Amino acid sequence: MSELPFKELDGLSLLRGLPNPKPQPVDKRGYGELASLYTAFSLEFANDLLSKFAALGQTRILDPFGGMGTVGEAGRSLPLEIALNDISPFASLSGRFRTSQLDALYQALDRVKAIDFDVSSGDEREVFLKAVREVGASEEPVLTWIGLTKDGENQAEMLATHLLCLIRIETHRSNRGSNPTWTKKASGEAIPRDHLENARLLVLDKAASYVSSLPETHSDFKVYHTCGDVSDPQLVDGKFDAILTSPPYPNRTDYIRHYLPATELLVGGDEAAERRLREDQIGTPLIRKEVPNPPLPESVVNIIDRIGAHDSYASASYYVKGYQFYFADMDRALRNFHRWLKDGGKAVIVVQDAYYKDIRIPVADLLIDLAKVAGLTLDERIDFKVKQALSNLSAHARKSAPKKHVQETCFVLRKG
Ligand SMILES: C[S@@+](CC[C@H](N)C(=O)[O-])C[C@H]1O[C@@H](n2cnc3c(N)ncnc32)[C@H](O)[C@@H]1O
Repeated sequence: MSELPFKELDGLSLLRGLPNPKPQPVDKRGYGELASLYTAFSLEFANDLLSKFAALGQTRILDPFGGMGTVGEAGRSLPLEIALNDISPFASLSGRFRTSQLDALYQALDRVKAIDFDVSSGDEREVFLKAVREVGASEEPVLTWIGLTKDGENQAEMLATHLLCLIRIETHRSNRGSNPTWTKKASGEAIPRDHLENARLLVLDKAASYVSSLPETHSDFKVYHTCGDVSDPQLVDGKFDAILTSPPYPNRTDYIRHYLPATELLVGGDEAAERRLREDQIGTPLIRKEVPNPPLPESVVNIIDRIGAHDSYASASYYVKGYQFYFADMDRALRNFHRWLKDGGKAVIVVQDAYYKDIRIPVADLLIDLAKVAGLTLDERIDFKVKQALSNLSAHARKSAPKKHVQETCFVLRKG
């Protein structure tokens, strides 16, 4: 942590001296060994920034799109109170895993090592659902109680469930072979015991190595988790000194489906609940029933109009709706950022551009325009060129915008 006293840091740029946010090989070797990361920033970037906040005495930090929990892990050794939210129950469990104390993590590893999997049903999904019920806090699906869980409650159950999710992901991963559509639903097939045991061994081995690399949590480190839509007013207004986040992009990434073997377990196999989660994601590829029409800044309206007027198939009748959802959702999210921040509080946001066919969508510029309407002022901004665009991770995006120049932007918004 920086040794600079509060006064010397006061007034300095937050972004000066920070590394390029791009995730590094070391991120992939860390938690990234266990589950794929969609984060736009590295652990090092988050840690450097959080250290600055800690040195400034700004201790209450929120990541409302917490994802796999990079901000949480980055804050472990700092005297901070970090709140992580995500709509995805699997992401919420990952955030809990990465921020737990070491003894709780080792206990979870032992608990999952000792599970006697019952493969007699002949249906691999049922085998995992049964194991989740066994280690779980309730017979109800995790999704139904995770949002209501008070901090500190059911921690052991959640950590063990997280490991079971990783094991199921691993069994699907090794089934996948060269088939990139591995996130498709399993068809209720049996799972050979040796396949399951190999996956358990591999995951527990990697998880143990990951846990052994984690620092113990700082004695003043506190973490709070919520699992819900960022539009829900579930966090205390005016409480946070800062927000650090990488929001979803308008690139039709389906995070829930990406981790489907885990999501299925956490929704208890309830396909309607799974569909609702997928629809409520910001940037979802699904089309919701109602198309919103809130007043939006001219720059945003122009982009939406250009997409709607594109002469490619279904631009006006179908694809434009995704952008209408995205910007209406981000408008609501940024208004909530304003509510959650203290006066003078700052939001540090990392985003990449996206493309619709040949139309470049300058996501940072548009979010900054939305933020202004929400009452947030632009304080600082740095642009970087990126090679591996997040918008190119989905097959759809790769097809429609191959090898486009993509820019990543880190910007700071201030309340008041
Ligand atoms: C770019 S990722 C964030 C990655 C994160 N920095 C990390 O360390 O993994 C965006 C996240 O936003 C979440 N998300 C999407 N729609 C959401 C919504 N409506 N409310 C809350 N979170 C949402 C996704 O589940 C995803 O985890």
